[in-house]
Amino acid sequence: TKIWALIPAAGIGSRMKSELPKQYLEIDGKTILEHSLSRFLEHPSIDKVVVALHANDNYWVKLKIANHPKIITIEGGATRAESVLNGLKAIQQQHGQDDWVMVHDAARPCLDNASIDALIQAGKDSAHGAILAYPSVDTVKLANANQTIDKTINREQIWLAQTPQYFPVNALAEAIEAGFKQGITITDEASAIEAQGMHPALVIGTRKNIKVTEPEDMMLASVWLVT
Ligand code: CTP
Ligand code: MG
Repeated sequence: TKIWALIPAAGIGSRMKSELPKQYLEIDGKTILEHSLSRFLEHPSIDKVVVALHANDNYWVKLKIANHPKIITIEGGATRAESVLNGLKAIQQQHGQDDWVMVHDAARPCLDNASIDALIQAGKDSAHGAILAYPSVDTVKLANANQTIDKTINREQIWLAQTPQYFPVNALAEAIEAGFKQGITITDEASAIEAQGMHPALVIGTRKNIKVTEPEDMMLASVWLVT
C-alpha cells in the first residue's frame, strides 16, 4: 500500500491581487509551491507527488524541481474539487487498490514534518480518514442574513480545517463524484467524505500551517518558514 501526495496548485489566487498566481510568489528564494512540495518530496513514506496545474500554467516548467522523479503533473479544473478529482483519476490509473492519498494545498507552505507523521498514524486508526485541523482560538458567532448575531456556538466543538487531508484514494474519488452529482459544495476533501455519512478523524495541527490567501499572509508565512 502506497501513500500519494496530491497538491492542488491550479488556482489563480484572486484574493492575493498579485501579478503571479500566489503559489509562484517567492519566500526566501523559493516559490510557495516549492516550499509546500518539499515536505512531501523529502518524506520517506510518501511514494509519489501529483501536482494539479492550471491549463495555461507557464511557470511550472521554470522551476528547478519541474523534472523531479517523484513528481507527476496533471491538469487542474475550474474548482479546487475538480482539480483534486482530476488528480485522483490520474492516481487511480496506476495505484494498488489500498493506496491512500494526502491532499495538500499548494498555498500552505509552512506545514511541518511532525504533522505529516501524525496524520499517517491517525490514518492507521481510522476507517474514514483523517485531516489536520486546529481548535478555534476565537469565539464563534452564527450570523443572521442581516449581519446580526443569531447565537454563539460552543467553541469546544469548533475546529478549523487545514490540509493535508488523508483518505483512501478510491473512497475519496467516489465521495467527490457523488458530491458533484448531489450538487453539494465541496470546499475540502472531508466535506465530500462527510456528505457520504463518514466521520474523518481530526488531528491537531499547528497554527503555523496557514493558507496564504491575502497579501498580509506573505509576511506571516515568511516568519513561520524560518522558525
Ligand atoms: N486550486 C486548484 N484549482 C482550482 C482552484 C484552487 O488547484 N480551480 C488550489 C489553489 O492553487 C490552492 C488551493 O487550491 O493551492 C487552495 O485554494 P485557494 O487558497 O482558494 O487558492 P485560489 O483559488 O488560487 O485563490 P483565490 O480563491 O483567492 O482565487
Ligand atoms: Mg479559491
